[in-house]
Amino acid sequence: MAGVIDRRQALALGAAAMATPVLARTPRSDFLWGAATAGHQIEGNNVNADIWLLEQVKPTVFAEPSGDACDSLNRWAEDVAIVKALGLNAYRFSVEWARIEPVQGRFSQAYLDHYARIVDRCRVSGLAPIVTFNHFTTPRWFAARGGWEAADAPALFARYCDRVARAMAGGISHALTFNEPNLSISGPWSRFQPDAKARAATRAMIDAAAKACGSDRFSLLNGGDATPMIPGVLRAHRTGRDAIKAVRGDLPVGLSLAISDDVSIDGDALLAAKRRAHYEPFFEAGRDDDFLGVQTYERTYIGRAGPLDTPPTTPRRADGKPYEPEAIGGSIRYAHKATGKPILVTENGIDASDDAERARFIPAAIAAVQAAGRDGIPILGYIHWSLLDNFEWLSGYKPRYGLVAVDRTTFKRTVKPSARVYAALVRKHMR
Ligand code: FCB
Repeated sequence: MAGVIDRRQALALGAAAMATPVLARTPRSDFLWGAATAGHQIEGNNVNADIWLLEQVKPTVFAEPSGDACDSLNRWAEDVAIVKALGLNAYRFSVEWARIEPVQGRFSQAYLDHYARIVDRCRVSGLAPIVTFNHFTTPRWFAARGGWEAADAPALFARYCDRVARAMAGGISHALTFNEPNLSISGPWSRFQPDAKARAATRAMIDAAAKACGSDRFSLLNGGDATPMIPGVLRAHRTGRDAIKAVRGDLPVGLSLAISDDVSIDGDALLAAKRRAHYEPFFEAGRDDDFLGVQTYERTYIGRAGPLDTPPTTPRRADGKPYEPEAIGGSIRYAHKATGKPILVTENGIDASDDAERARFIPAAIAAVQAAGRDGIPILGYIHWSLLDNFEWLSGYKPRYGLVAVDRTTFKRTVKPSARVYAALVRKHMR
């Protein structure tokens, strides 16, 4: 399963423009400095979501179920308070469609109110709420009726976006329709091709989920190669954006894409093919958007015939993985050149159980963002993934992307030294 997800396994399987704050050109306090989360990964017990079901069925390819996650459904105010205490000025979180519309056509006012309270608390705390309307998960009923492949999926998504916008658009600073809808498009440029065994295991899990729903299908974007779902997603981005804009026309709306810093070695043909399939349809769907969200975790080396190993000269981490914090600079430059849009870095981070690695990574990544800003690229902000150690999709709780550790039994939050490093840098830039 792709985006359902550890990014690597994922790949294996398968405002804004309003004011356009520009780093180093506008007052520094306009720049958004934030941390990101996503509902399913932190809230816990998202029982009506497609992915919750996939975690429960047998067989499953999930390392473990999300369970209580970080209990942020109840502890969200503590999370917001941590972001504020760190001195950041933005918090990115997502609203869960499966809570807001647990049954097709039945909307939960209580959950709309719940998320509106988070938006309000951010505002009261001086934080810009950046809200993702779809961060990988959809309601179980939506997957069981064909997901993004169903002809009326864009209309259903637009109806949900309309409800969310009517409940909270007034307070949101930036809205993202989709998070990384391009993540699961695999192709010959990808190093992480699923083998037959992995494909069969994913298929068996999805079949079990369909059966549990009494359906002959269970269709989700991150269930393998997403290619057949992309036309529906592209349309849904537009219908969702229009629905949000109809409620509040001046709210900056965009989508976020997984963009690696692609380096072509030995000819550009395959890189061009990747760009055509992996990015360009989304750039086109976002042509009328106010900004583009860029999410970068890696650099990818692409040769004439296929992906290449990272060159031996690349700096390495203690475990031998490449250490390339400046990759975010390359992806920002590419994304802006290709779209002309202001860029919001909506995710960037590092899976590091040794927090010292994150503390080293953050200043280097931010320096790369700033260098792009100095070159005149309009950059709206830098939102680090993630605020919390959380449920990292297929990999469960093992990866550690958080600025803040979460005790798996008591849910106690402990701010890590790397968060202090980030906070100190932000303080310096806001001065
Ligand atoms: C991104 C996802 C996010 C998280 C990070 C590590 O692909 O958007 O939810 O899993 O990777």
